[in-house]
Amino acid sequence: MKLIISKHNLGLWAASYIRARWQANGQKPFVLGLPTGGTVVDMYASLSGLVQNGKMSFQNIITFNMDEYVGLPPAHEQSYHYYMKHNLFDHVDAKAENVHILDGMAKDLPAECARYESAIKQAGGIDLFLGGVGRNGHLAFNEPGSSFDSRTRVMELTESTRQANARFFNNNPALVPVQALTVGIGTVLDAKELLFLASGSSKAEAVARLAQGEITPNWPITALKTHPRAALLVDPQAASALTGSAKAQLEEAWRQQPDEDVILTL
Ligand code: GLP
Repeated sequence: MKLIISKHNLGLWAASYIRARWQANGQKPFVLGLPTGGTVVDMYASLSGLVQNGKMSFQNIITFNMDEYVGLPPAHEQSYHYYMKHNLFDHVDAKAENVHILDGMAKDLPAECARYESAIKQAGGIDLFLGGVGRNGHLAFNEPGSSFDSRTRVMELTESTRQANARFFNNNPALVPVQALTVGIGTVLDAKELLFLASGSSKAEAVARLAQGEITPNWPITALKTHPRAALLVDPQAASALTGSAKAQLEEAWRQQPDEDVILTL
């Protein structure tokens, strides 16, 4: 896999990449896996801008979001339905029937998860899965310990994730739902291509584990290394805990060309 360290706006970088992959795909339906979180707000703003300027269209794009809290209705400001509506779908020309987000209000949660897996299959699988990274290295809501062949399911959120996400809930971890629905790591790994993003020093340990640690379910992010076509795009702060040869390569590359993106093969 590739670790891309960029000093430029990650959101713009990712949106341009999505547009390029969408263009290369031609007229066929293009299936995107989509994340939420603070890291990707800029990415959605850039994508919305591309669509508004006529440089891209969502008419042939089918989307599947990664996860949703259990028990938050779509109108709740912290639900991922709400996030996606306000950050993306209000601003682009996606067809309502092409937008898929797990229903955290479903009466039968396991049935909802099974339905989601078959909808992804029916769409022909995911072409490009975008994602963020939790401070503890989680992918979507696959908390540490999740198996790499896990499928869409109900997940109990860890204390660490509820603390991290409390900033969106009046800084009160008690208000953060205790469960979420999430695609599995296996669901993510089935995608043809992965592009994950991490920014800020709170992600530095997870990025260092990926770059230098062993592949282990204790750090779900390390599953990216098992995929034939995966990249993690990070800013310098998220790369700040790299050590050894990764750190040396990065410093040398920036010494020669301070503003260029650096690509490390892991
Ligand atoms: C939540 C989401 C993850 C996301 C993570 C990071 O826990 N379920 O999919 O990667 O937040 O969020 P942020 O970008 O706000 O740091």
